[in-house]
Amino acid sequence: MIFDRLLVNVNAATMVPKEGNGLGIIENAAIGIKDRQIAFVGAADALPKDYQAGETTDCAAKWVTPALADCHTHLIYAGDRAAEFEKRLQGVSYEEISRAGGGILSTVRATRAASEEELYELALRRLRTMLLEGVATFEMKSGYGLDLATERKMLRVATMMRDDMGLRIQRTFLGAHALPPEYANRAVDYIDHVCNDMLPALHEEKLIDAVDGFCENIGFSRAQMEKVFKKAKELGLPVKLHAEQLSNQGGAALAAEFGALSADHIEYLDEAGVKAMAAAGTVAVLLPGAFYYLREKQTPPVDLLRKHGVPMAIATDHNPGTSPTLSLLLMLNMSCTFFRLTPEEALLGVTRNAAKALGMDDICGTLEAGKVADVVLWDIDHPRDLCYYFPRPPV
Ligand code: NIG
Ligand code: FE
Repeated sequence: MIFDRLLVNVNAATMVPKEGNGLGIIENAAIGIKDRQIAFVGAADALPKDYQAGETTDCAAKWVTPALADCHTHLIYAGDRAAEFEKRLQGVSYEEISRAGGGILSTVRATRAASEEELYELALRRLRTMLLEGVATFEMKSGYGLDLATERKMLRVATMMRDDMGLRIQRTFLGAHALPPEYANRAVDYIDHVCNDMLPALHEEKLIDAVDGFCENIGFSRAQMEKVFKKAKELGLPVKLHAEQLSNQGGAALAAEFGALSADHIEYLDEAGVKAMAAAGTVAVLLPGAFYYLREKQTPPVDLLRKHGVPMAIATDHNPGTSPTLSLLLMLNMSCTFFRLTPEEALLGVTRNAAKALGMDDICGTLEAGKVADVVLWDIDHPRDLCYYFPRPPV
């Protein structure tokens, strides 16, 4: 076996669960990399006798994991919403701000006004911060344009970033995020515009990897989302949904009906919804940043998700309104403290299950031969340390 690079004297959390070893830990491992892919992972003494390595790195008995994946972000936008944060602290709710034309629509105004170059620069700065924490796979949503030109601009920025940075990036079309001002009180017409104009055009331009929506009383109804999902399926695009964040709309069950990759937030999800997700193989994406930032009280039904074997992922939901954090490591910690995940569940939630939520589990998310060599070396004594320390980037 010939490797470009070989990591030795290292402990590996492969994230391939084994009986009694949930993180698939291999102590004193070796990892061989060839052509930017993992060619060998195993105990060092199982290395083939005749191997050759271009470069060998002694990892000083530290730990490697697959690079982390942030499977739910709104990383591309202009402006900020710090003034709204201040208002919310004075007692005005997210819904009230939204209904008064603030919230998502205030970011829409700023994003429409920004050039493609400006948006790219802003997103790149955010991305660089996240790279410092070992994140190499991202989801990036549109949804702050709500018109064809601006949705296109956002998805083009995500595409350029993917191609420039050599990262794994899923580009998600979130046209059904909010009702733009020019369609005020005309939700039916707007959904038709999303389905008949925006979706087909942006798909034709090869700018969409997945389709998302905001199913909520301040977003879109289940029936409206169904229309969008039907169109997505017609075009052969996978779907996912912001579901059950502030109330139970049956969104997760709808998403599951369409074989969704994930249902995200899900604080108000009930057991019927959990069962539907389990049957469809839909991943539950937990977003403790938004929960924290909105000072929510209701936690997602983690016990039911466990009971029915629904895989759980964790993401930042980075956005200017409800989760301005850029720290996926902090989300690891918060998923343990707020949602009572075990460190093992949390770690699988930002690797293996996050990749599954993106439909990328065949290329990343675990340390296995054949996957991309997205490998992070951490200055820690045990994988659980990543959930324990308050954010610091020990990469
Ligand atoms: O995931 N809930 C809808 N979308 C975002 C919030 C976007 C915003 O407020 O700008 C979320 O929380
Ligand atoms: Fe979101």
